[in-house]
Amino acid sequence: MLNRASWKPAAAFGLWLLLCPAALWAAEPPPRTLLDRFAFSEMGVLSLIAGTVLTAVLVRRFAPKKRVHVRRTVILLLLYICTLGAGAVLTRFEAGGAADTIRTISDLLATLTVINLGAIAIFDLALPALSIEIATIVIDIVTGIAYIIVLLAGARRWGLDFSSVLATSAVVTAILALSLQATLGNILGGVALQLDKSIRVGDWIQLEPSGRQGRVREIRWRHTVLETRDWDTIIVPNATLLAANILILGKREGEPTQHRMKIHFNVDFRYNPVDVIAAVDAAFAGSLPEGVAAVPAPNCVCLDFAGQGRDSFAHYQLRYWLTDLARDDVVNSRVRARLFAALRRANVPLAVPAAQLFVENDDVDRRERKRRREIERRMHALHSVGFFQPLTEAELEDLSGTLQYAPFAPGETITKQGAVAHFLYILAEGTVEVRVRVDEAEARPVRTLHAPTFFGEMGLMTGEPRSATVVAVSDVDCYRLDKSAFKKILAERPQIASDISALLAERRMEIEEAIGDADGDARKTRMDLEQNRILNTIRDFFGLGGDADR
Ligand code: CMP
Repeated sequence: MLNRASWKPAAAFGLWLLLCPAALWAAEPPPRTLLDRFAFSEMGVLSLIAGTVLTAVLVRRFAPKKRVHVRRTVILLLLYICTLGAGAVLTRFEAGGAADTIRTISDLLATLTVINLGAIAIFDLALPALSIEIATIVIDIVTGIAYIIVLLAGARRWGLDFSSVLATSAVVTAILALSLQATLGNILGGVALQLDKSIRVGDWIQLEPSGRQGRVREIRWRHTVLETRDWDTIIVPNATLLAANILILGKREGEPTQHRMKIHFNVDFRYNPVDVIAAVDAAFAGSLPEGVAAVPAPNCVCLDFAGQGRDSFAHYQLRYWLTDLARDDVVNSRVRARLFAALRRANVPLAVPAAQLFVENDDVDRRERKRRREIERRMHALHSVGFFQPLTEAELEDLSGTLQYAPFAPGETITKQGAVAHFLYILAEGTVEVRVRVDEAEARPVRTLHAPTFFGEMGLMTGEPRSATVVAVSDVDCYRLDKSAFKKILAERPQIASDISALLAERRMEIEEAIGDADGDARKTRMDLEQNRILNTIRDFFGLGGDADR
């Protein structure tokens, strides 16, 4: 039984066997028959021209990259027509011998044109239409054999001794083989590479020992052409390519092409690796930066403690799988930005090399100035939250002490629809998008929020699951307020619950409108009902009792 890999070489061999009797026939003195009559009839000339035009049109439409083959055929056709004309002129002037030679050349050219048209029809049009891919080298060999047969037939007509031609060519071949050993090595390498399909056009490969990487653009007879990410082209002789191990990047049988990338970072010993890993893994558990594969998921590992016993930090590695190998730097940068934000959110600083010494005059005044600056930033964020208006400056300052700083990188999911709500988010800087899931495949944008504003209040105040997903559009600085701090405020200012219930009802209506569930006419009535429902839910959730709206 032929398996998938072996049937194409077997087919080429079969074709060769078919061509052998044709070669024997060609070796006999050929009767000037069918082909002659065809080549020298008006019908023949017109058919060849029509066939070439039709082939050119089909190639232009279905295989534009193969136009060079048509060009070659047109040149042969033009030469054929010229020799026909020359033959006719010579016959008229009764130059018998020369006319005969030109006639034979015409004959040859007509046959070569037919062979080329046939090769284009089979290899460039028919087989690709059936999704059968044949290596360029196999096509070249088959066409070359057909040429040789025709040339042998021509040689017989000129009266050349076939056996002496063969003997001479064997000697010439031996001499050439000796002198062109390197070139032949490359050519055989090219044949091997194309036939066994170990490398394909489009694969990313790494050259050893230089480590240079490039995408295979073309495998030629003598060399392989690689394009690098730096917009350069590398020409690798095929023999060199085969002499070393070839590393094909991101390729695994039956799996999508994706390559593992590693990002190294160091964190001081004082931080527990379990916490560091959890913080990084969580940042990549939801939506992923563009260009990062979902399976296998990105993961973080602690690789080593104290490199060479000198460092005071542990060495970590974040691994992810890159889907488009041409865009490694861009995606790496996105992943690094998200990693950085995740560490800052978890209050885990990147390690400072032990050899570096920062001398800082950290006196009491300076520390106080730093603290005041941070409080001002937080107060500014709190003032942007409309429903905190009733609070006094002292109450807001108290509240600012309970806020947790939470930065996010572009593309990161901040809250996920359906998740349990733990925080209210105050957006101090940046832009986020609120999206709602319509079905498994589609999430629709509901609104874009710009700093300063807040979000995440619906889940925190009602205890209901998050109503929407909020994603960072730009670099985002948030402050988180947790439920206990919020409960304290509500206990002191219960009217906040009724102030905010209108906003919550409005936001919920917008979500329903985005999903397409809203009933336009009854909007006002539904808003009132929704506001009441939300108010009661907040009261129940925080145990406020019925006088909350005073
Ligand atoms: P929560 O349901 O806790 O989590 C998702 C958040 O998205 C939600 O709170 C609101 O803060 C916010 N959100 C939902 N719908 C809207 C909207 N229409 N306009 C602005 N923000 C919204």
